[in-house]
Amino acid sequence: MAVEPVVYGASERPPRGDYERAHADYTCPQNWASYTDADHDTYRRLYARQTALLPGLACDAFIEALPSLGVRDRIPRFEEINERLKPATGWEIVAVPGLIPERPFFDLLANRRFPVTDWIRTPEEFDYIVEPDVFHDLFGHVPLLFNPVFADYVQRYGAGGLKAHDLGAGELLSRLYWYTIEFGLIRQPDGLRAYGAGILSSSSELKHSVTSQHPQRVKLDLLRCMRTRYKIDDFQATYFVIDSFKQLFDMTAPDFAPLYAAVRSLGELAADESSASDSLITLG
Ligand SMILES: [Fe+2]
Repeated sequence: MAVEPVVYGASERPPRGDYERAHADYTCPQNWASYTDADHDTYRRLYARQTALLPGLACDAFIEALPSLGVRDRIPRFEEINERLKPATGWEIVAVPGLIPERPFFDLLANRRFPVTDWIRTPEEFDYIVEPDVFHDLFGHVPLLFNPVFADYVQRYGAGGLKAHDLGAGELLSRLYWYTIEFGLIRQPDGLRAYGAGILSSSSELKHSVTSQHPQRVKLDLLRCMRTRYKIDDFQATYFVIDSFKQLFDMTAPDFAPLYAAVRSLGELAADESSASDSLITLG
């Protein structure tokens, strides 16, 4: 880590995944001036394509909150979003050079600071990118941080993550993040909808997750969820479904230590495995 973060100018481009430019807590300046016109255009086109896909597939809370991101025709300055986000829920977004280790990630969330990758994919990666970029992080994650109940859940998750890390259970807890914050589905009165950022920022998995007959959809149960491995290179074979963000918040109030012990004694499940105790959600 550099003692002082490096700030890049308009003619300089920070290399992707350059952690030398970050503070000790992995945050860094957004380096907004280094974005090119092509970068802003990539964001604008991603935003337009994804927004058109949302009706009937994204949850109401997400659609309502999306305008809070502000500008849609260029990459927003993070401080512009924070001017609205901080008063709304006490959260702020902070720039990071890419994925960060478990402990500092949990620590940021526990302190209501959401790490947002500051670089954007290349035009060649328009349809699919392996790592999260600024579009995934901003478009997928940040709107629901304006929702007070969901925002509280993410903070509670971070606090739980710090405990899990100390117990050597970070990987188990990461499955809850994956199956809720990244790939969660919610039942609304008018049907199943997506609230997970990995789905909401994907042009192909959004419709698949909500309408395909192929994946199994299981009512969220913490033990079941933490036993379940996940896929990072394909659509999810299993989605976990909630009825409300309040349900998420309430179910993560208890101490998870007994859960981790139960996961270890029962063993893991494959991403596409079913369990006799599953409460399945079928499409109407
Ligand atoms: Fe994400």
